[in-house]
Amino acid sequence: MERIFITGTNRGIGLEVTRQYLQLDDTRIFATARQPEVATELQALAATYPERLTVIPLEVTDETAIREAARLVAEQVDGLDILINNAAINPPEKTQTLDGITVETMLDVLRVNTAAPLMIVKALLGLLRQGNNPRIANISSEMGSLAARTYGADYAYCTSKAALNMVTRGLAADLRRDTITVIALDPGWVQTDMGSPDADLTPQESARGIRSVIDGLTPADSGAFLRWDGGSHPW
Ligand SMILES: NC(=O)c1ccc[n+]([C@@H]2O[C@H](COP(=O)([O-])OP(=O)(O)OC[C@H]3O[C@@H](n4cnc5c(N)ncnc54)[C@H](OP(=O)(O)O)[C@@H]3O)[C@@H](O)[C@H]2O)c1
Repeated sequence: MERIFITGTNRGIGLEVTRQYLQLDDTRIFATARQPEVATELQALAATYPERLTVIPLEVTDETAIREAARLVAEQVDGLDILINNAAINPPEKTQTLDGITVETMLDVLRVNTAAPLMIVKALLGLLRQGNNPRIANISSEMGSLAARTYGADYAYCTSKAALNMVTRGLAADLRRDTITVIALDPGWVQTDMGSPDADLTPQESARGIRSVIDGLTPADSGAFLRWDGGSHPW
């Protein structure tokens, strides 16, 4: 039985990854949403798989809520095998241009996309240490790649994902002695609210890739920046 914790599962990639893991028989999922009461599709999954899906309320910037989420998980399982830090924001383009960007936008996005994943790892570390081949996938982005940054604008989002990549490298080093594997994972350009209908991949294709990459991870992969198709991404 694989025990999996995923953030931001109300919609988009997080919802589809949750759905696909539930279609396997041997999974126990803790799926978070900031407003479970309006997470209609997630609640429908919880009704279908009441024994294997627990929906947990989590606004990822709320440190009290993070601790409470960890406590709820620890009541039900004695270890976690996979953590997927998926929740993120990408505010409207005009608020992230050189003209439009503000300190508030920069810090709001860093709080959600960079600081929260690190705080979630801290809160779940005890459970991850008890996991089988424990793995942490921080959902990053091509837009977090310094090498690929040959364009302007998108200041907050790009910076937050580059910083998440740096968090990933630090965690990989800190957690090597615990044999917890930590990677940054680019899900591709995906047809979600964030990615737009014009994107290359369906959520189904991206989620299949994400699961397959996580499935194949070993401690030797720790600290890598991987793509949804298993290739390595330039930093
Ligand atoms: N789509 C793409 O093309 C693409 C490309 C590269 C990387 N990514 C990354 O892939 C991940 C998933 O993206 P997506 O396309 O599925 O995005 P999405 O459709 O916009 O969904 C984002 C999810 O994150 C949740 N969320 C946002 N802020 C939160 C907060 N403060 N606390 C808790 N949950 C929060 C949202 O909750 P609500 O539903 O309550 O708002 C939603 O469930 C993100 O890390 C994103 O940066 C996406």
